[in-house]
Amino acid sequence: MSNFSLNTSEDPIFDLIKQEEKRQAEGLELIPSENYVSANVLKAMGSILTNKYSEGYPSFEGLNWSEAETNQRNHETNFNWNEDQVSTQILPNYRYYGGQTNIDRIERLAISRAMKLFHADHANVQPHSGANANEAVYFAWCQPGDKILAMNLGHGGHLTHGSPVTRSAKIYNFISYGTTESGDLDYDEIEKLALAEQPKIILVGYSAFMKIPDFARIAKIGQKIGALLMADMAHVAGLIAGGVHPNPLDYGFHVMTTTTHKTLRGPRGGLILSNGNIASPLKKPEHTLENIPILIDRAVFPGTQGGPLEHIIAAKAISFLEALQPDFQDYAKQIVLNAKALAKNLINHGFELQGGGTDNHLILINVQKSFGIDGKFYERALDLVGLTLNANAVPGDKGGAFRPSGVRLGTPAITTRGMKETEMQQIADWMKQVMDLCLKAGSEENLSNPEIKQDLEKIHQAVIALSIKFKVPGIKE
Ligand SMILES: Cc1ncc(COP(=O)(O)O)c(C=O)c1O
Repeated sequence: MSNFSLNTSEDPIFDLIKQEEKRQAEGLELIPSENYVSANVLKAMGSILTNKYSEGYPSFEGLNWSEAETNQRNHETNFNWNEDQVSTQILPNYRYYGGQTNIDRIERLAISRAMKLFHADHANVQPHSGANANEAVYFAWCQPGDKILAMNLGHGGHLTHGSPVTRSAKIYNFISYGTTESGDLDYDEIEKLALAEQPKIILVGYSAFMKIPDFARIAKIGQKIGALLMADMAHVAGLIAGGVHPNPLDYGFHVMTTTTHKTLRGPRGGLILSNGNIASPLKKPEHTLENIPILIDRAVFPGTQGGPLEHIIAAKAISFLEALQPDFQDYAKQIVLNAKALAKNLINHGFELQGGGTDNHLILINVQKSFGIDGKFYERALDLVGLTLNANAVPGDKGGAFRPSGVRLGTPAITTRGMKETEMQQIADWMKQVMDLCLKAGSEENLSNPEIKQDLEKIHQAVIALSIKFKVPGIKE
């Protein structure tokens, strides 16, 4: 036991975790990509499953697939796996290490629950993150130099959709489309670029976009040129699972990637859903759209990753089961109701919102245009009162990455804590009060002037008083 002789209670890491628990409990998390996981999800993440190596995949061979496959292909939402079979049968597998009897059953549960949740023919639950999931899909379908049509980062797309600082952008040739004045996707531009450039992938996905994409329209464009239709639904996966946002896989998209930790409320990780043929990943399949699920399995492992994180996969399985419960639909509905209420109250206070409001969980405020204060200054001031959000570029931003004109916020985390429209009014009021103090201070440095500091502290105490009434799941009192 010599390796374990450290007195861990003296390790400052544990004190820092305690301090972070306090910060989370006493503040309000408004970053739209964050959420709070359940105690069960936490338990699986901290389990001994982390000890196991399990490169490769479990198999479903020998289970009753025939009826399941028919139902999957019709994308019937009432499709139901026989969980008993999935979780009890010990089957041959495609793994490179022994000792997989329990791991296979855990991963099969995660896969089958994800497929059910998102009406997909196939799920790969192994991506370590959203970035890894996207990378694997590009690798599955493209050759170096191939074109990928994706949303401009400055208009709300994600770094992994072709930002020049990423590895993918050095391998593939990204072409970007943007949004219109009204904040919607520029469908005419997407069509024009798709026809002219003939990209191998058309990608719809975003980190700061407040409308609902017209997936059917984009699918039609993709079908004209035979492109792989890929949706990165990292932000809205929980809304899709909760039935308040359309599912791109129901509109002809071949692949959907997502993170599992945002609105979906699972552990930090990635997930790839796809429609098409399912077969052993050991045999190299033909490079066809129908074979995309098999190509993806091979692209995740061994293509871009090594051993899967089975403790995280177990936690994903738990969160998928949670998302399959009827109360998750109420949660998803409330996220959107809260976002709309928060948006309305912010507009009433004079904040100018990108796209005029929101149809999902995200809000993007152009604070520079509204009040002449940049996003970073405002983010830091809000931090001082326990309201956490992030500075963010708005379309056409001249402020650069470190002084963008906007801030981005959202409601998944505060909705998990049970907050409703009344609290949204209160949060908007505090945000306006903090903005008034920023205007009074005139600069970030002046936020520490005694008079301003005192006023900020008054708001901070009120934020704490409200926050502690709404418990964070997984934090013991
Ligand atoms: C749309 C989108 N895709 C991918 C990612 C990357 O996810 P991760 O941070 O897990 O790599 C994000 C993260 O914010 C995202 O918003």
